[in-house]
Amino acid sequence: MQVLAHKTGGTYRGLRPFCLPRAGQGPMLSTMRPNSPQHLAHGKAAKWDTSCVLLDDSASQGRLDWAKIFGNTSPVEIEIGTGKGTFLLARAGERPEINFLGIEFARAYCRYAADRLRRRNLTNVRVVQAEAAAFFKICLADASVWRVHIYFPDPWPKRRHRRRRLIQPPFAWDVRRVLRAGGQLIIITDHIGYYRQIRNVLRSVPGLAPVPTPRADGELVGTNFERKYITQGRSFYAAAWLRYA
Ligand SMILES: C[S@@+](CC[C@H](N)C(=O)[O-])C[C@H]1O[C@@H](n2cnc3c(N)ncnc32)[C@H](O)[C@@H]1O
Repeated sequence: MQVLAHKTGGTYRGLRPFCLPRAGQGPMLSTMRPNSPQHLAHGKAAKWDTSCVLLDDSASQGRLDWAKIFGNTSPVEIEIGTGKGTFLLARAGERPEINFLGIEFARAYCRYAADRLRRRNLTNVRVVQAEAAAFFKICLADASVWRVHIYFPDPWPKRRHRRRRLIQPPFAWDVRRVLRAGGQLIIITDHIGYYRQIRNVLRSVPGLAPVPTPRADGELVGTNFERKYITQGRSFYAAAWLRYA
């Protein structure tokens, strides 16, 4: 199957732009930045133990079986762009009755987050190193997910880079496909232009309706980027959609 995300004409540093999975390699591994961000890895990566949390490539050869991965049939929520894993660490600890999967394509972040989550002994959370749009398309079954969280997705502010944005029509249709009826997509960004694009894209997907975003005092979700941007006084734009059909 072709991985359609990031059809960039070869300019996206570190990514192979338009490619087929290699034999024996999960499809989502074919479009990722292999090792960035480098600064996290210096001298520490060798000590990270990602066992039990980081899914290996064999998990993604086809549609995922949640019961096999988590050993139970609890509802599943997905966070895209897990970064250092701060959201998953808090949310998985608070909600043991829910299973969480983090999707992150930067290898160092992925391994850093997995090690952090393992040290907390959380049994309801896994992380996968993958490009999210390809992973949704290939690895997630219809109506298999309760919530999709996307916090501070890379905004790619330059016009010529906009096609690299994650939230594009094919991905939005896949989000709708994998959400269960009653399931939700929640997005927060600090970039007004991307926020407008996200709303336009999602407006065109049948079966998704905008709903009020969960409100909180102080922090909205407590990710690293939210905390950094709060100190910079930036505005945030949050939106949520419900799959009703
Ligand atoms: C701006 S950071 C936000 C990290 C975290 N959500 C936060 O709020 O602190 C965006 C993260 O998403 C990851 N990312 C961007 N595009 C992605 C994609 N298509 N699939 C998976 N991860 C992606 C990046 O590697 C990065 O870690």
